[in-house]
Amino acid sequence: MEDLSPRPGDLDPIETASRDEISALQLKRLKTTLEHAYRNSPHYRARFDKVGVHPGDLKTLSDLAKFPFTVKKDLRDTYPFGMFAVPREKIARIHASSGTTGKPTVVGYTQNDIAMWATCVARSIRAAGGRAGDICHVAYGYGLFTGGLGAHYGAEKLGCTVIPISGGMTERQVGLIQDFKPRIIMVTPSYMLSILDEFRRQGLDPRKSSLAVGIFGAEPWTNAMREEIQQDFDMHAVDIYGLSEVIGPGVASECVETKDGLHVWEDHFYPEIIDPETGEVLPDGELGELVFTSLTKEALPIIRYRTRDLTRLLPGTARAMRRIDKVTGRTDDMIILRGVNIFPTQIEEQLLKCSGLAPHFQIELVRAGRMDDMIVRVEAMPHAADAGARAASARELAHHVKSVVGVSTKVMVGDPDSVERSAGKARRVVDNRPKG
Ligand code: DLL
Repeated sequence: MEDLSPRPGDLDPIETASRDEISALQLKRLKTTLEHAYRNSPHYRARFDKVGVHPGDLKTLSDLAKFPFTVKKDLRDTYPFGMFAVPREKIARIHASSGTTGKPTVVGYTQNDIAMWATCVARSIRAAGGRAGDICHVAYGYGLFTGGLGAHYGAEKLGCTVIPISGGMTERQVGLIQDFKPRIIMVTPSYMLSILDEFRRQGLDPRKSSLAVGIFGAEPWTNAMREEIQQDFDMHAVDIYGLSEVIGPGVASECVETKDGLHVWEDHFYPEIIDPETGEVLPDGELGELVFTSLTKEALPIIRYRTRDLTRLLPGTARAMRRIDKVTGRTDDMIILRGVNIFPTQIEEQLLKCSGLAPHFQIELVRAGRMDDMIVRVEAMPHAADAGARAASARELAHHVKSVVGVSTKVMVGDPDSVERSAGKARRVVDNRPKG
């Protein structure tokens, strides 16, 4: 694979700034954000007043801990536009997350917010090894989901030729990759695997494709999956993180030259890690829930938003900004099985060790009597699809899961193509336990 390290002059000055410079900028921007939220959003004003804090109480960055958290429910309770801090006429765009239950969460952007977002995504693409002039195939969904349009504006800003294909129609995706020869693809890692299957179905060698850089995010994925994709496509695979409540993709991103976690674009987003039980701020290096405060957003300033994502903060490496570890999972997706906490990524890691199994999987939770059980549904690779090979693969995966994750599971090895595919975020857990 090509060496894609940045060339002199490629980076924004803030990407190589000192910690002191970053902190000074953050403090200045944080003060402005708190004042803007307090003055222009009745929601934040009421929240701050209730606990008796005022924007003027922020003297240092650590004073932020005095301010109340924001949670998804706040956005739902103020649906649709109640948290906006600018008049509706100043909102240039709306996005929304579908949400599995209840009302969607609605977010809004001014023109300046969209420009800031595009800058962050452009920086992310460049960190991944993208350059002006590259063809960039965007297979994140377009629409209310932030993935497609977020990637699109960032790629345009960097100076790429953008192919706005969105998700789905996998056969066509492969056809256009063959014809247009993009150097970059932006897509969820699970959908990249469907694209990989389609390459093989069409008798094409994915290693010979034009793709040199994949920018994967919107769902958890492991380093084992990175190795798999890099090997299968002979391309670099890097991680991009974000959430609609903050902006969308481009809150944090990995650098191709290090692939050691995601640099938070700290000039626009202030990260904290808290203990999810007590809400207490944890020191850098400790695992906990990621919390973000926006530093430059106008339409929807977000103060101490609890992401529910679990990770830790690490010092900068390829860039000055701090990194987050690859997000292993959300507190909401954690399965507690007979007292053991399990994330779907842990199953993914073990699955990728089994050469007779394809990398697609889904976890089904069932209740047998009073006990919860976990069934891992996977599929045989075409070369290991006879009954004997399937039974051996099932035993192998169950053994890895038992010895590394610590739980007994039932592994069901289906036919090739039998596990549900998605064109976006994969649904990893299906809960079929009786409700209530
Ligand atoms: O998924 C934004 C996005 C689009 C990010 C495209 C990256 C690429 P939401 O739909 O609001 O926004 O979902 C946000 O997805 O809180 C995480 O739980 C999860 N997530 C996003 N990126 C990653 C990642 C977009 N790289 C939620 N690794 C977040 C793990 C991720 N989880």
